[in-house]
Amino acid sequence: MLAAPHGGRAPRTPTHRVGSAITVTRPAPRAGLGRPPWRRARLGRGVLAVRGPGAEGPRETTGEGTTMTIGPASRTPGGDGRGGPVEWSLLPLTAGLNGRGHLTVGGCDLLELAAEFETPLFVYDELHLRQRCREAAAAFPGGASYAGKAFLCTAMARLAHEEGLSIDVASAGELMTVRAAGVPAADIIVHGNNKSRDELRLALTERVGRLVVDSLDEVARIEQLVAEGHPAPDVLLRVTPDVDPRTHASISTGQVDSKFGLRLPSAAEEAVARLRSGTVGRLRGLHMHLGSQITDLSVYAKAIRVVAPHARRWAAEELSVGGGVAVAYTAGEASPAVSTWADLVRGACREAGLDVRLRCELGRALVGPAAVTLYTVGSIKHIPGVRTYVVVDGGMADNLRVALYGSRYELLLPRAATAARTATVTVVGKHCESGDVLVRDGRVPSDLRVGDILCTPVTGAYGYSLATPYNRIGRPAVVFARDGAARLVLRRETVEDLLRLDVAIP
Ligand SMILES: Cc1ncc(COP(=O)(O)O)c(C=O)c1O
Repeated sequence: MLAAPHGGRAPRTPTHRVGSAITVTRPAPRAGLGRPPWRRARLGRGVLAVRGPGAEGPRETTGEGTTMTIGPASRTPGGDGRGGPVEWSLLPLTAGLNGRGHLTVGGCDLLELAAEFETPLFVYDELHLRQRCREAAAAFPGGASYAGKAFLCTAMARLAHEEGLSIDVASAGELMTVRAAGVPAADIIVHGNNKSRDELRLALTERVGRLVVDSLDEVARIEQLVAEGHPAPDVLLRVTPDVDPRTHASISTGQVDSKFGLRLPSAAEEAVARLRSGTVGRLRGLHMHLGSQITDLSVYAKAIRVVAPHARRWAAEELSVGGGVAVAYTAGEASPAVSTWADLVRGACREAGLDVRLRCELGRALVGPAAVTLYTVGSIKHIPGVRTYVVVDGGMADNLRVALYGSRYELLLPRAATAARTATVTVVGKHCESGDVLVRDGRVPSDLRVGDILCTPVTGAYGYSLATPYNRIGRPAVVFARDGAARLVLRRETVEDLLRLDVAIP
């Protein structure tokens, strides 16, 4: 049994991990430009030992240079006053340590993955993804969907659907991706606060399961398409219950002052009347989404109390409570269980006398904690008395959340995941902005050096999906790791990919 690392929680079910972690001695080949996207990388299986914290230090690293380590001036406790290793519960479910003391996810040595697929690299724990999807499906029988905007590719859409979820999309691009994954249109829910006529036509001709109507202008566009002979959709009306979700303003959506949804009761009333005329589609129910990264679940009960009288009046058969369940990004943060949330909303509906089929659409809670991002340290800039910058090969282009919301992340070295983190550093990227920060005042082991692989946990949601090719740096690759094998699900975006958009100069 592993000891709890420096007061943190011990790795979960370490005995389970012994069989699935790996020992690899051969150097992994470097990724090449021409690599087929679906190649499976078999990295080896079977572990001989799982070393606990306090055991002998890491035996090897993949770092090329050891030219600079962090100076003593920065070896001071950070804002939390602690210098322990990362809280283990922030790591994906199958996280473990292999015989070399390296962090593993899905039985794969993260240093091997970095060497194999290069960095920056998103590594998803496939079992973690499946487990969370299954929990959501069980908590909302017949009504759970995955909000694809959190992280979408064909592999993710197929995985979520295999685990019993329908898929939420918010654009034609997301819709086509989910269809390309083989998900039936009936299991797709279409969102968007400004769906174009083309997007609506696609949704109607595909006969998607539900169309979530966001505005009266959209009602008019659908009416026209139906009049032209397109199939009438099954509709949920998105309403704003005017409840403050107590989260960051940029991801608050349930208040009246929002670009999303129809105001209750006035605008929603008008939409209902037009739907009842039979020329737009069939009104199935109501939809609300209060916001994202919500820690105080009581706001859902409050919103249900607001929405319930209207839902009864309009004979709604369904209510979608949206998504929004928070995850913990750093030690000590709250991450409510989806089952707790489901019980709460079900109880609130009962109390409000609302007998409806409950739907939900979770993104972050299903995929956020399932992934880590790996970077290579390229430079360390120590400014005595000021700050130590650790510069990595990614940055704001693969994790915009820090710039958008001031989000915070933990740091760890996969070669020494349970080592004390006694140094305080600011991790920045290689993009041309001073705001290109990944982690401000984060904690790392004091022997961090150039060439090290650095890892940020809980980066599975709104990381890749918000990624940009800023500075014409292509988006990272993404792998799903499971049972000692890593499956490339999104290949690295190359300069050739980017140049493909440039119209040839005569
Ligand atoms: C309409 C809608 N539903 C669901 C979600 C998913 O939210 P979360 O990832 O917080 O669960 C979002 C996120 O923005 C959304 O806009």
